[in-house]
This record gives sequence, structure tokens and C-alpha cells, in this order.
Amino acid sequence: SHAVIHDVLAGRYAEGETVTVKGWVRTKRDSKAGISFVAVHDGSCFDAVQAVVPAELSNYENEVKRLTTACSVIVTGTIARSEGKGQQFEIQATEVEVVGWVENPDTYPMAPKRHSMEYLREFAHLRPRTNINGAVTRVRNCLAQAIHRFFHERGFNWISTPIITASDSEGAGEMFRVSTLDLENLPRTEQGKVDYSQDFFAKETFLTVSGQLNVESFCCALSKVYTFGPTFRAENSNTSRHLAEFWMIEPEVAFADLADIAQLAEDMLKYVFQAVLTERADDMAFFAERVDQDAIQRLQKMIDSSFVRMDYTDAIEILKSSGKTFNYPVEWGIDLQSEHERYLAEEHVGAPVILQNYPKDIKAFYMRLNDDGKTVAAMDVLAPGIGEIIGGSQREERLDNLDQRLLDMGLDKEDYGWYRDLRRFGTVPHSGFGLGFERLVSYVTGIGNVRDVIAFPRTPGSADF
Ligand code: 4AD
Ligand code: MG
Repeated sequence: SHAVIHDVLAGRYAEGETVTVKGWVRTKRDSKAGISFVAVHDGSCFDAVQAVVPAELSNYENEVKRLTTACSVIVTGTIARSEGKGQQFEIQATEVEVVGWVENPDTYPMAPKRHSMEYLREFAHLRPRTNINGAVTRVRNCLAQAIHRFFHERGFNWISTPIITASDSEGAGEMFRVSTLDLENLPRTEQGKVDYSQDFFAKETFLTVSGQLNVESFCCALSKVYTFGPTFRAENSNTSRHLAEFWMIEPEVAFADLADIAQLAEDMLKYVFQAVLTERADDMAFFAERVDQDAIQRLQKMIDSSFVRMDYTDAIEILKSSGKTFNYPVEWGIDLQSEHERYLAEEHVGAPVILQNYPKDIKAFYMRLNDDGKTVAAMDVLAPGIGEIIGGSQREERLDNLDQRLLDMGLDKEDYGWYRDLRRFGTVPHSGFGLGFERLVSYVTGIGNVRDVIAFPRTPGSADF
């Protein structure tokens, strides 16, 4: 029967039992004694299974001995205890069927040696076959499943919010335009502007930067909801933590204030860290060995500690009296840069920090104004090694305050008509946050660049594959 390699290595089959595994050759070694050792992987776990292939097989000389890395094979044989160190079980092959050859092994870009992450990006279609990308992919999947499970267990409904939208939910003007208009022959209004009334949706539309506004509408009816989907930002930041297309998890809770949502963020992170340590111990051990010595202890420490809450205003004082020179000078009112965030989380606290109550002028229009009139009920979760991984807030549920904020920020009230309705018809206090999924995967694996934890990264100047 077709066995998954994870099950073979985990001892799910008895010694002497016949199994068939299907996968790709990771390495092959021929011994003088006329036996070949073929390591086969199928992605179900970190390790490959060793197939011991005897010279008696009819295709030994003309096929088995010609196998190279990445050839696809179907191996049938009996389960045996492995003598060598490493795995407990191996397969004594009785049949090896070669399904696909590698045209010319010298031209195969993923030869089994260590490649730089930059090199692997040039082969985004083949890098899933590498140890490191396989491990990232399984950990990413584990985190996604754990996030859904966390919210499901707490009674949240998952809302699929739209990808094409007319509203700029962050009000930051970093949107990709969606249009079917003929670029050569754009229709114009009498004022000479592009006439989007002739476009597909009869208005100007964009790829969403966040599902938040839509999910707020469902929050104000189903109480506990979240989105988990792709979001798009045309910000021209070529950094190791920005993508033009990234995935975001956005829960939204009715009758919740800032403290409630901060606690939800802390609980969720701990839950998913625990899940990954339990379910992907093999891949995490690899990251600890190869990428970041501290990978496992770091997560365990997060699970065991309580996250520090700190006011923005206090953080500014800490940064000022740190004695450090930052590239970007510190004063009350600045938008914290990643050097500041990292100082706070890494050097000052040494653990995740939940920074709260930011100046209103650097935050989005929907955040709730505090009684001081200067700050809003916002929170960012800053993680050591990466900086902001979560941004959230209590929402402005008072219509007159919301309108004032839209005005102050130069946003047109008319564009937010349906959003304002939520404040006109049975408004409630509510709060939510957004977790950048790639930043989470980067944090968990220790892999420093978000381009290496998403299947096909989209960044300025790069949309290949
Ligand atoms: O702080 P942001 O912009 O918040 C929002 O979009 C809110 N609507 C969330 C909410 O309250 N529902 O983005 C949230 C998170 C950031 O903390 C960061 O982790 C991630 O999304 N993020 C990015 N990740 C990768 N590439 C980018 N360009 C990102 N921009 C934001
Ligand atoms: Mg933010």
C-alpha cells in the first residue's frame, strides 16, 4: 500500500511489512558491496527515508545506479530496523520504479548543498524541494491551521472579505488599482480626469489593503469574527519585512476594549507557538540547528512569559534616555521606526511588548480617540528580532468623533457611507487587530526575510513565477 514517509519513519508499519513510498530522491550513494542507498522524501516530514537497494534488482545497473537528486521514484520494499544512526526504520527495496528522470544533473539548480536564500528566490518554483523551504512550508501550514483552530474554539466566525474594493481602509493611499479600461484610450470626464464610471465596476477600484472595514460590519452582528486572506500594499519599501502581497489575520470583537484585544493577541500568539512546537518539532529542530540557535527556546519563553504592556508616551521616554543614537531622532509624535521597536523589544524588555495609546496623528482614522484628545486606543505587538507583527485598536464607535477624524485626515465622508452606517444603527464599542502572517512565520522560523516564508513573493520590481 502507498505509505506516507512520515508514517514509515514514525513506526506506523511493522518490521517485515511491505510498503510502497512515492517521492523524490534527495541523495544516492552506491557502496562497493553492490548496494545503493537512496534517500527518498515526499514532503510529509523533514526527514527522507532510506531505501536500501540490492544489485539483484533487474534495473539496478541501468536505472538505480543512474539516479540523481530530484528524480521521482516509486519504491516498494519491506520495513526494516535501521542499523546506522539517524532514523529507526528503513526500506529494503524489492522494486524501484523511476517515474521521472532529471534531464541533465549538472543543470539542476537545486543540487544538494547549501544555497543562499537569495539564490533560492531565483528558483521559487524549485525551492520547495529544498530542506529549508519544505520546513518553512510545513511550519507555515501548521501556523495557519492553528490560527483557524484558535478562533474556532473561541466561537469566532471566519468571514471571507473581498479582495477588490473601492475603499482605502488604512487611508494611506498605498493601493493597487484594478481596472479593465483601455490604457491606450482612457475615457475622460469633462474635467479631463479618468472616467471610472465607464470601468468594469463603474467606479475606481483597488486591491484591498485590509479586510478590517468589511469585517467590522460582520462584527456588529455576529460579535466575534475574523478574516484570513491576502492583502496588497503598493508601498515602495524594499525591506526584509515588507511584501506587496501578504496574508493578514484580522479578528474583530464586539463589546471589547483595547485591553481585551491585547489579551486576545497574546493568547493567540501563545496558542500558535505551542502548536508549532508540538506538531512540527522536526522542522523546528532543523531551524534551531541551521537558522537560529535560539528558535525553540524563544517560542517557549514567549509561551511562559506575560507580554509587557507599555504606553507609547513611556516608550518615548525610554528611547530618549537609552543613551543610544538612532538614525531617526526620537521625540513624542514620531512614528516608531523598526530600530526603535527592536530596541524596546530586544534590549529594553527582552520579550514581546504591547505598545499602546499612540498619538492620533500617526494612526488611522478609525481608531478611538482617548480622553486626552491627543492619543488613540491603538496597540502594536513588537516582537524581538522583527519589530511590529501585530497592529490593532479599539474602533471609534461615536459617529461625531469618526466624522471629525475623517475630516482632519482629508478623507471624504461620502466614501465611507456604509462604514458610518455601522455607527448610526446600533453602534457598539468594538476592537480588533491585524497579524501579518509572513512576519509571524519569519519570527517563528528565525528566517530574517519575509520573501523566504511566502511561496511566491511579490516585491517592488519582482512578480516572477
Ligand atoms: O498595522 P497594519 O497596517 O494594520 C491594519 O491593516 C489594520 N487594518 C489591522 C486591524 O486592526 N484589523 O497591518 C497589520 C499587520 C502589521 O502589524 C504587519 O505585521 C503586517 O500587517 N504588515 C505587513 N506584512 C508584510 N508586508 C507588508 N507590506 C505589511 N504591512 C503590514
Ligand atoms: Mg501598523
